[in-house]
Amino acid sequence: MVATQFEPRLKVIAIDGPSASGKGTVAAQVAAILARDYLDSGALYRLTALYACQQNIGWKNEHEIAALAYRLPVVFRANSILLNNVDVTTAIRTENIGMGASAIAALPAVRAALLQRQRDFLTSRGLVADGRDMASVVFPQAELKVFLTASAQIRAQRRALQLGMAPDGSDYQKILADIEKRDQADRSRTVAPLKPANDAKILDTSSLSIQESVEKVLDWYRKI
Ligand code: C5P
Repeated sequence: MVATQFEPRLKVIAIDGPSASGKGTVAAQVAAILARDYLDSGALYRLTALYACQQNIGWKNEHEIAALAYRLPVVFRANSILLNNVDVTTAIRTENIGMGASAIAALPAVRAALLQRQRDFLTSRGLVADGRDMASVVFPQAELKVFLTASAQIRAQRRALQLGMAPDGSDYQKILADIEKRDQADRSRTVAPLKPANDAKILDTSSLSIQESVEKVLDWYRKI
């Protein structure tokens, strides 16, 4: 679906970008400041990957995984996520589940299964949504579209620091390799590849703090 100038804008701020770009933190803070709901769409792909793992379904079984995605028994709470009544908030954040999410996210039937579920997050309160295709596919009529990025090296350093590791040791090299691998997979897939929407504003956060990034998004929002 492509937005035209005749379609009404949706009360949605779409923030897309590569992994570890800080988009989740920025999107959540913008949502809190504007008193809007927040959608972490990556969590839905991660939950689907974890659910498939629990059912011993391989990452390539497109239709079985799509069927799981349609009936994902998930509950989002303020600070936790439940899958089948079990708290999986940290279990979905492992590198293995990230890779699984990236693999199943390349399957068209899985993306189709999660499309309406993502759109259902939009209520009259408005939404800030982060992911890879929020602006291009899920909310093409978003009132503001931001593509947030940073160099792979900076993203790997931030991730290493987050995990309490040295930002230049062998752990850093492994994180950098994983980030580059996931970037490559997300950019080269045929369905909804990671790339800025034509009308997205590009925000390179390589030399910005989270606070400065949040301010920049709010500044664009105030000028809509
Ligand atoms: O953002 P996060 O790292 O949690 O996303 C996990 C994976 O899910 C990404 O690597 C990407 O392949 C996939 N994803 C996607 N579309 C989205 C959000 C996430 O393809 N809107």
